[in-house]
Amino acid sequence: MTTRISYAGYACFLLMILPVGAGAQNSERPDILIADFESENYGKWVVEGKAFGKGPSRGTLPGQMRVDGFLGKGLVNSFLGGDDSTGSLTSPEIRIERKWITFLIGGGKNPEKLALQLLVDGKPVRVATGANDRPGGSEALLQESWNVAEFSGKTAVLRIIDRAQGGWGHINVDQIVQTDSKPKGLVKNAARTFVATARYLQIPIKNGAPKRSVTLLVDGKEVVRNDIELADAKPDWWAPMDVSAWKGKSLTLNVDKLREDSTALSSIIQNETIMGGEGVYREPLRGQFHFSPRFGWNNDPNGMVFFNGEYHLFFQHNPYGWGWGNMHWGHAVSKDMVHWEELGDKLLPDTMGPMFSGSAVVDWNNTSGFGKNGRPPLVLVYTAAGNPTVQAIAYSNDGRNFTKYAGNPVLKQITGGNRDPKVIWHELTKQWVMVLYVGLPGDRHTVHFFTSPNLRDWKLVSTAAGVAGTPYLYECPDFFELPVDGDLAKKKWVLLGANSAYSIGTFDGERFSPENVNLPGHRGQGFYAPQTFSDIPSKDGRRIQIGWFQTETRGMPFNQSMTIPLELKLVSTPDGPRMTYTPVRELEVLRRKSNRIASLSLNPGDANPLSGVTGELLELRTEFEPGKAKEVVFNVRGATIVWDAKTQELVVNGHRAPAPLRQGKQRLTIYCDRTGLEVFASDGLCYVPKPFIPKTDSLNAHVSATGGQVKFSFLEVHELASAWGKATVVEPRRGVPANPINQNK
Ligand code: FRU
Repeated sequence: MTTRISYAGYACFLLMILPVGAGAQNSERPDILIADFESENYGKWVVEGKAFGKGPSRGTLPGQMRVDGFLGKGLVNSFLGGDDSTGSLTSPEIRIERKWITFLIGGGKNPEKLALQLLVDGKPVRVATGANDRPGGSEALLQESWNVAEFSGKTAVLRIIDRAQGGWGHINVDQIVQTDSKPKGLVKNAARTFVATARYLQIPIKNGAPKRSVTLLVDGKEVVRNDIELADAKPDWWAPMDVSAWKGKSLTLNVDKLREDSTALSSIIQNETIMGGEGVYREPLRGQFHFSPRFGWNNDPNGMVFFNGEYHLFFQHNPYGWGWGNMHWGHAVSKDMVHWEELGDKLLPDTMGPMFSGSAVVDWNNTSGFGKNGRPPLVLVYTAAGNPTVQAIAYSNDGRNFTKYAGNPVLKQITGGNRDPKVIWHELTKQWVMVLYVGLPGDRHTVHFFTSPNLRDWKLVSTAAGVAGTPYLYECPDFFELPVDGDLAKKKWVLLGANSAYSIGTFDGERFSPENVNLPGHRGQGFYAPQTFSDIPSKDGRRIQIGWFQTETRGMPFNQSMTIPLELKLVSTPDGPRMTYTPVRELEVLRRKSNRIASLSLNPGDANPLSGVTGELLELRTEFEPGKAKEVVFNVRGATIVWDAKTQELVVNGHRAPAPLRQGKQRLTIYCDRTGLEVFASDGLCYVPKPFIPKTDSLNAHVSATGGQVKFSFLEVHELASAWGKATVVEPRRGVPANPINQNK
């Protein structure tokens, strides 16, 4: 227990020896708080440089990952001014009068430059540093301690230094205490071994807890390593780990460091079904017609491909965390892009690093040789984001089981920021083309084009010019051909980046010649890293995109989702061909009850023509001529979508997007789910995704006009069914063998 002893004027910075009462020599002596950093300023501590500011921070600083694990409201956080700021913070003299000094510490790992030091006679006799020496990691502060019994009675000084710049160039410190009771330490390599008897291990997760490196060994051999925010006590949620591939074998879970009193390992149970699985897809913040993983975090869609009669959607997945990190490729399949079945993770982190984004192709001519029995293989092309960061491939013959290629990597590192390979078959030159994002020094970035006869051997054929300081072509390139106005004789190439800004141009199999750059893609918010399906069988060049929809779902055991599938087209406009977005027609299967009003003239002040509508999941479609109206105002479950005649804009919950009339008319489609809106206007030239959580009690739709009469040629609202149907938890169809970590050898 820590007794806070106050001292006039310096309540929080108690640095002098204080009488601790009778019997003070035994192990019951109360603790002495040295500093808890709860004040506005640092009291008698001396500040040098800019990194520490004038006083303690109140938690996370702008631009910093969430800082957790400090006590109270304040802490020392040298991220002030970013990683590059430096400085030091030195305590007044203290007298050492307990056996231990304990403290919380986090940030970068560099004992020379980022340290809490104990100086006796001016010399550092104890040093502690943070835990992070590579990108990713965690801002959680961890408890550490020093045995200082040998300095008993001596005068000492504590010094916190930040002399580091660049990534993880900061240190966090809090709650420095002198104590006699041996602090609860961290056990290194805590392990539990058992025989796998069921399909799942249930792993206890505490959001924001320090990330532990958790290794799974099968019969003593490492098969996968995860960074997991393990719950030391009560978990926020349980994450299932599929171990069905190793039933009957001896499994060991090894954790790099664990608090002595942690229940994380002992609380893990085995289960045939997913714990809490009955509630999956029924959670209050589960998008009902937007794909999201059953558990954990998702970001980019990956490996989108049509294979053996199914649409495959892989995705950046952290199966054991609510936040980004620990990237796996999750996997789901669908017959119609509306109803998805999640099948478990297919690419697991391995010795080459976490599994970053990439694409998939069907190798129809078996150029790779991975095909079997005359059937073309499905080939995944991904980034293994270790050090070095390389491009690699994996293949499948059944769309369920995947094997990493033994000759990986297929492309060595170009720069540390090279990733997200998008591969296509180029029919004219009969070869594979890879478009790879390449980050360059000095905030520049570009894409490189490679060709290959067989998906294994790649040759650099051209590079696009880097655009400094813009998000253009930043990460996750996609590259495809689209007919203009549906005319297959008039096709153009489209190159786009993660923010969906694109170029239109021509491509000769090696070099892309853009006719324009940086045309805006989507016009909303929370849309990123979209990808299009490869190999959709279609006579009209059908191209369907899904984006990462950044719908935050606090309190849920999952986070983020995907947009609805969007059909992309190029249509002629006075400025040249431009891309349009249309919700795929397959979504119509969700319509459960339709309300349709054919031709309506709506005047300002008229009663709401949609008063009969109630529903949680809604699709609204309309076509109108605004006449002299100033605004046409739609309200769907509390979201307002205004078409503004003066600016010719759509205003979606306050967010403005250009949405001009087309031949005097506006055609509008609005989808509203539990976590987001997707609005389409100007015949798809304007697509506005917008994360939004409707209030549970607002189930209505309204429409009104201001300034003049609006003529609707139709106005319809469809109440939609959940795409998860009657599904409770959808169990994987088969045990999914996780790819052994050493498959790359
Ligand atoms: C885009 C991105 C990709 C990367 C992936 C990692 O969101 O940063 O560039 O491959 O996410 O999860």
